[in-house]
Amino acid sequence: MLSDLLSDSVRAAGLGALMKGAGLVTRFIPIPQPTLLVGPGSSGRLGQAIAGFGHRKILIVTDGIISQLGLLRSLTDALTVGGANYVVFDEITPDAPIPLIEKGIEFFKMHDCDAIVAFGGGSPMDASKAIAVAVANPKPLRNLAGYLKGLRSPVKIYAVPTTAGTGSEVTVAAVISDPVAGKKMVIVDPRLVPKMAALDPSLMTGLPPHVTAATGIDALTHAIEAFVGNWTTPYSDGMALAAVGLIFENLRTAYRDGNNLEAREKMALASTYAGFAFTRANVGYVHAIAHQFGGKYHTPHGFANAIMLPYVLRYSLPAITGRLALLAVLDEVGHRAHLEVMALAESCQVGHPGHGAIVVHDFDQGADGVKA
Ligand SMILES: NC(=O)c1ccc[n+]([C@@H]2O[C@H](COP(=O)([O-])OP(=O)(O)OC[C@H]3O[C@@H](n4cnc5c(N)ncnc54)[C@H](O)[C@@H]3O)[C@@H](O)[C@H]2O)c1
Ligand SMILES: [Fe+2]
Repeated sequence: MLSDLLSDSVRAAGLGALMKGAGLVTRFIPIPQPTLLVGPGSSGRLGQAIAGFGHRKILIVTDGIISQLGLLRSLTDALTVGGANYVVFDEITPDAPIPLIEKGIEFFKMHDCDAIVAFGGGSPMDASKAIAVAVANPKPLRNLAGYLKGLRSPVKIYAVPTTAGTGSEVTVAAVISDPVAGKKMVIVDPRLVPKMAALDPSLMTGLPPHVTAATGIDALTHAIEAFVGNWTTPYSDGMALAAVGLIFENLRTAYRDGNNLEAREKMALASTYAGFAFTRANVGYVHAIAHQFGGKYHTPHGFANAIMLPYVLRYSLPAITGRLALLAVLDEVGHRAHLEVMALAESCQVGHPGHGAIVVHDFDQGADGVKA
């Protein structure tokens, strides 16, 4: 992900040294953590809390499906009871395309808002973060991509994830997409971390099985890439281990029985723990490749990760055998990581190459991005 942010000239100047520098930054800069509310009904409790914070008007950013499913109700009821003013912008689509974020920025300004509730999967959450940074720093979104490009603090964000995958409710990143260039970009700023987040499994029971599977493998990829990368800390290791264990124990159940609240809650926690891990220790080649396919073909992010993860693990095996062995022993998930991951993905019918849209020549055409 880091390398997505570096220009070609910077790469030419010495990617290795720069990556080490970036690693030092992400390792040592303070990263705030949101207050977490967990459990069925927690989105209502989040609304209750925010209603008391004295905001002038709150913008709820979400997508049309979530809005139509009525998932906002507990939150909006609590805001109304608490006397808070809010408006809803529900036009975000997968991968947070720039034109829709620009519409959201205008909506925020038109309604004179001063805070955002990011409500949905990674796409609405990341669109919210981009709106928050752009209204405080009025310049084109493309110029805000990268590290700490906004001088002024983004407006306050609160988050309600409705998928268990991205961990965006606790991360420093917002992934947005440029549909014209066919690329994904990342805005990184520790001040983008939401102030408070609700992990409400009752919002996730209607998540279709294929989205449950893909987003669950996204969380698994965050945890594994954070664990086997070069920038680990004892804290990120603890979070990654907790996430991997929870995902192997609960993803199959959440996939087969979407109404199982316990499995949904544990997957939501796993996704958040994996977010804590990778926002500190970063992700790796699986994400570097998945982002290229997401930008070019709109391959759902978790699905692209599910296709790539076993192959990248097998490729990286000589360099990470010790770490994978540790993961296998501590999480009791078996000793051949790429096969364990493949078995999990196959039992949730996600990631089999035959299901994908990726063709081999893309690896040559996209080589610059893929190498990143
Ligand atoms: N900021 C980060 O740290 C970070 C990390 C990983 C991924 N991402 C980004 O997040 C985006 C992907 O997010 P995502 O995987 O959560 O998917 P998404 O937000 O695009 O949602 C996928 C689909 O699921 C539907 N959906 C979401 N919640 C639902 C629910 N509870 N019930 C029924 N349907 C529901 C949505 O309407 C949408 O159609 C990508 O752009 C990816 O690059 C960001
Ligand atoms: Fe991801």
